[in-house]
Amino acid sequence: MTRSANPVLDSVLTRRSAPRLTEPAPGRADLERLVQAAATAPDHGRLRPWRLVAVSGDERARLGDALGEAAETPERSRRAAGKPLRAPLLLSIVHRPVPDHPKVPEWEQLAATTGMVTTLSLLLHSHGFASIWRTGAAIQAPQVHKYLGVDDDEQLLGWLYVGTRCASDAADRRPLDTPPRITWHTTGN
Ligand SMILES: Cc1cc2nc3c(=O)[nH]c(=O)nc-3n(C[C@H](O)[C@H](O)[C@H](O)COP(=O)(O)O)c2cc1C
Repeated sequence: MTRSANPVLDSVLTRRSAPRLTEPAPGRADLERLVQAAATAPDHGRLRPWRLVAVSGDERARLGDALGEAAETPERSRRAAGKPLRAPLLLSIVHRPVPDHPKVPEWEQLAATTGMVTTLSLLLHSHGFASIWRTGAAIQAPQVHKYLGVDDDEQLLGWLYVGTRCASDAADRRPLDTPPRITWHTTGN
């Protein structure tokens, strides 16, 4: 699909995950506004089964300490401790499903949470920022849960690293060959 005059389509087509991020990241007021918008993503039962723990500034080093403690070897610990410094802002994605909901099973709630995060990444992109969702074994580490305050009935889904794309990083995307993934059962064309 070629670029169009449709800003939503353009935003979707030009968003790329950004492995290297630098200042600036959105400030508190801008982030709150964007999350409020992202929270309109489809959500069966409007349960909003998520929360975010934003980590920025020197607190990133404290998160790094927790990641380092959770690592298995001194070398991995050293590398893990530096990971939060790869972006000015980290949004810890905490999924908090409503248990045994009569109408909305947990997989649907997980879909709502991931829909919100995807929408947020698009909104960030359309406002000149960039992001990448990162996971890893540390999302289950007790040390990391303790630092972030993740409860037993919650699930840490990783971090949306947020900032501004480094200018030298390419962000092109080749068109994806998705038509074969659509099967039509139709009487029309
Ligand atoms: C749930 C989820 C977890 C991800 N975890 C990682 C990760 O741990 N490390 C990483 O480099 N990228 C991670 N990504 C980003 C993907 O690698 C990235 O979206 C993919 O390479 C496609 O690139 P694009 O977003 O630019 O299209 C994750 C994405 C999602 C949706």
